[in-house]
Amino acid sequence: MNEENIIEVRNLIADFEVKEGILRSVDHVDLDIKKGKVTGLIGESGCGKSTLVHALLNLNAPNEYIREGSQVNFKGRNIFSLSAEELRRLRWREAALVFQAAQNSLNPTITIKEQMLDTIEAHLDHGDALSKKKGRIPKLLEMVRLEPERVLKSFPHELSGGMKQRTVIAMALLLDPEILILDEPTTALDMITQSYILDIFADIHEKLGVTMFFVTHDLSLAAKLAERLAIMYAGKILEVGSVEEIFYKAYHPYTIGLIKSMPSIIGDLSQMKPIPGLPPNLLHKPSGCLFHPRCPEATEECKKVEPKLIEIEKGHLVACHKYSNVKEKGMRS
Ligand SMILES: Nc1ncnc2c1ncn2[C@@H]1O[C@H](COP(=O)(O)OP(=O)(O)O)[C@@H](O)[C@H]1O
Ligand SMILES: [Mg+2]
Repeated sequence: MNEENIIEVRNLIADFEVKEGILRSVDHVDLDIKKGKVTGLIGESGCGKSTLVHALLNLNAPNEYIREGSQVNFKGRNIFSLSAEELRRLRWREAALVFQAAQNSLNPTITIKEQMLDTIEAHLDHGDALSKKKGRIPKLLEMVRLEPERVLKSFPHELSGGMKQRTVIAMALLLDPEILILDEPTTALDMITQSYILDIFADIHEKLGVTMFFVTHDLSLAAKLAERLAIMYAGKILEVGSVEEIFYKAYHPYTIGLIKSMPSIIGDLSQMKPIPGLPPNLLHKPSGCLFHPRCPEATEECKKVEPKLIEIEKGHLVACHKYSNVKEKGMRS
């Protein structure tokens, strides 16, 4: 494993058994999550982001199958070969997850203080100093810009949606994890609260230096927080690069389409061009490149042969047969 990475995903395949057959939600995914940095994962709804996130912690649905050969190497250990006890120790203490509707996971019958203490006690190990972790509570609440005295004695229903979400973020940090995994952490909130919480994440990253994996369908949101971005489509990673590379030097026609479909900052809606067509049904995927039916560059080869994700420049990876065309035509400008 490369020293720079905290997680290396290799050849990850996650299938769901459904009435109609086998739905491949994560399809041969390779991805590096760099230590101490914020990596963003972007993709349209239903492309497999949450399935990938859950696989990082080996959390599977009952009808889900992680296929042979899949690896999620977490600091050198393959998560799929850990015992239940090893997994329990890893979750929260090393890797904490905040999911989309996390604020609904608060227990309505006990105060925030009790829930925070319960969380610490449930995940503490022999030899850990309880008082040290307890001492983190007010500091973490302040970091998410909540008033400890007021929030700790409250029940969840006494807090707004944004306050509950911030409480959950503070709870995720209680055990001092090395990586914070955020699966659409602001999607359920209004725009102003979203950008407020994004500022808080930036603050947390700066103050604690914790690695973050920020998952969202919103490219502009990801670009505000992340240093590197991975673009996912129909269960596959199509492009990975720095924020600058993705915005100004993207090679994949899908990435370029995503950027052109974003409302521009200056608000010129005539510049917005949605990608024609729809993402494929994961039960009936197209042959070759999964994006070919919607791609302006597609050729016969694209219909037949699936492109591999290859490193074109250091740290910039693309899965596209026609990337050099894109470069020459200056489609990216
Ligand atoms: N437990 C499940 N059973 C069957 N299909 C599922 C299950 N969970 C997710 N899926 C399907 O897997 C695909 C990817 O879902 P998901 O990972 O939630 O995507 P995203 O988070 O990007 O919106 C979707 O087609 C979804 O319907
Ligand atoms: Mg999701």
